[in-house]
Amino acid sequence: MKVLVTGGAGYIGSHTSLCLLEQGHEVVVFDNLLNSSEESLKRVEELTHRPVQFIKGDLLDASALERIFAENAFEAVIHFAGLKAVGDSVEEPLWYYRNNVVGTLNLLDCMAKAGVKKLVFSSSATVYGASELVPLVEQSPVRAVNPYGRTKEQIEDILSDLVAADTDWSVAILRYFNPVGAHESGRIGEDPRGVPNNLLPFVAQVAAGRRDKVRVFGNDYGTPDGTGVRDYIHVMDLAAGHIAALKFIQSHLGAYCWNLGTGRGSSVLEVIAAFSASAGRDIPYEFAPRRKGDAAISYADASAALADLGWTAHRDLAQMCEDHWRWQSANPLGYQPMPDLTDGDDHQ
Ligand code: UD1
Repeated sequence: MKVLVTGGAGYIGSHTSLCLLEQGHEVVVFDNLLNSSEESLKRVEELTHRPVQFIKGDLLDASALERIFAENAFEAVIHFAGLKAVGDSVEEPLWYYRNNVVGTLNLLDCMAKAGVKKLVFSSSATVYGASELVPLVEQSPVRAVNPYGRTKEQIEDILSDLVAADTDWSVAILRYFNPVGAHESGRIGEDPRGVPNNLLPFVAQVAAGRRDKVRVFGNDYGTPDGTGVRDYIHVMDLAAGHIAALKFIQSHLGAYCWNLGTGRGSSVLEVIAAFSASAGRDIPYEFAPRRKGDAAISYADASAALADLGWTAHRDLAQMCEDHWRWQSANPLGYQPMPDLTDGDDHQ
């Protein structure tokens, strides 16, 4: 299949593109590189020995998108492109709604015009808001608590309205829990810009000596050790979930929604301990006040994905930390090249 991957240079997009290529699919990546790097795709090519066609562009540029659909016979689209920082979305809601919602509308318009009606959409467990009725099932109430989450929720609604109006569409909505880890080669991984918002990349940067200590947001939750519990899932398991969903929509019309998680929760302190064991070094931390909007506990019931797609996560927390650390330690600055220390004027 020839697949368009929007946001394919990003963290989950690059790992999924790698899996698509390994499955023999042809991949065209469309990405504005706002929060990603083309270097990830060079490394995907090097790992798979297969070419990736990269087009730098923005979903808000409808005419560029139209051209791409006119020039390529896609069979399906996997749509990752979007902004994802909760704090930014609270400060700049219009930017978030325009990028995520209007960008998706542009994409859907082009797909409809070109008659490409198979879509895998990157949603998030964030649509469940701060619900603590765990495990979360796909039927759990959807009530996002910030603009970022609401963009995901609105896009899900748009997709189900679209499928109701035109039954030729096949749409898979994937609600990710907490993606972490990296490809086992250590060549591709997560490369957040600036200070990481999420736990794992922060812990990894503390382990690498790039930051002082982890601030644990809250130790008075009603969880076994008082810290927040999440369902961390290895990015390669997540990528495999996309391949399974893509296969499913080839033979099923309609809109489907699946949780992609492991079904197991780990606390912040468990994550720090597991990472410390993988990295073979202490990871300093301190307790800090709760972060606004955080749930105490969130983990998936992932049984629907197993029943419908035959997909389940295989990698445990130790493996997630090992792979994340392999990537972080080999690429301390992410995809940015290391400064060339042999090149200075001060050398004799
Ligand atoms: C966050 C977002 C969610 C988004 C997801 C993936 C919030 C409120 N939620 O989820 O919308 O879909 O990332 O991008 O931002 N923690 C610390 N110290 C840190 C960072 C995190 O203790 O420096 C704790 C948090 O309080 C939480 C756990 O670690 O208990 C996981 O946090 P994080 O990685 O940010 O993920 P979520 O909050 O689940």
